[in-house]
Amino acid sequence: MYRFRRLRRDERIRSMMQETRLHPKDFIYPIFVIEGENIKNQVESMPGIYQYSIDRLSEILEQVKEADIGGIMLFGIPLHKDPQGSQAYAEDGITQRAVRFIKENCPEIYIVVDICLCEYTSHGHCGMVHGEEILNDETLPYLVKMAVSLAEAGADMAAPSDMMDGRVAAIREGLDLAGFTQMPIMAYSAKFASAYYGPFRDAAHSAPGFGDRKSYQMDFANGQEAIREIAADIEEGADIVMVKPALAYLDVLKEAALTFDVPLAVYNVSGEYAMVKAAAAKGWIDEKRIVMENLTAMKRAGAKVIITYHALDAVRWI
Ligand code: PBG
Ligand code: ZN
Repeated sequence: MYRFRRLRRDERIRSMMQETRLHPKDFIYPIFVIEGENIKNQVESMPGIYQYSIDRLSEILEQVKEADIGGIMLFGIPLHKDPQGSQAYAEDGITQRAVRFIKENCPEIYIVVDICLCEYTSHGHCGMVHGEEILNDETLPYLVKMAVSLAEAGADMAAPSDMMDGRVAAIREGLDLAGFTQMPIMAYSAKFASAYYGPFRDAAHSAPGFGDRKSYQMDFANGQEAIREIAADIEEGADIVMVKPALAYLDVLKEAALTFDVPLAVYNVSGEYAMVKAAAAKGWIDEKRIVMENLTAMKRAGAKVIITYHALDAVRWI
């Protein structure tokens, strides 16, 4: 009889046989930077996650350095919003200033910047708006401006999350023309219109003022379309492609891993984090074990990079 249990007998042989191992460098930790002074606001629906003003940022940057993770992903929250999202590509915009601050004070930290307008537009949509319509081609030049201005500030990688068609090609061309041929693009390629983003929209003040994002983000019923979206972004020049959210979409991630020979990222989003934290706070689940199980499953399904709010905790639990 074949006995599977021979290789499960004790911890020594189990750990020798372990197929998937998490490493601190797998993780990217999202950070919210808010305009103002002396601010450290806990995000109510995301216990343990804060909005920081730049003068308080060092506190979290020290923890990031200590954890020695892959990098951080920055989300700026501006004071001033307008229909064109002009603070997204202003030289002294909140995210640009945060990038410069980090480059100056912690040059060893790898900085990914989210490229999207929704935190900066008064209507809260990810693109330019005409009436109730979210415009595609009219939005692209603004995304390019945002990516270039953040590259100029010193960002290491651009991660467009807006889901406009053709944005990867436009941003690649814009970065190249500006001399940033070496800056990688991590495309949010298969990003689904998801209720799991709820807590993030509180954290980043980015809920749409009218309607929803279903005319640009994907229908969660569609798996084949996700593969076409990923193929298109690779074709347009994406260096890393992403599936988002994570847990309800591991089938998409796995299929992408079997289909494409490029590094894959997965975004373990705010709502996924909130559910774990809420149940753990009630004592209904064991937070540490649940988090490690979830993150390991993401890597097992094919993720090279995991963007997660659990990153700093997970490093201590590896
Ligand atoms: C901006 C953006 C969002 C997230 C990442 N970038 C929100 C959205 O699309 O509404 C979600 C991240 C999370 O929920 O943790 N477009
Ligand atoms: Zn957006």
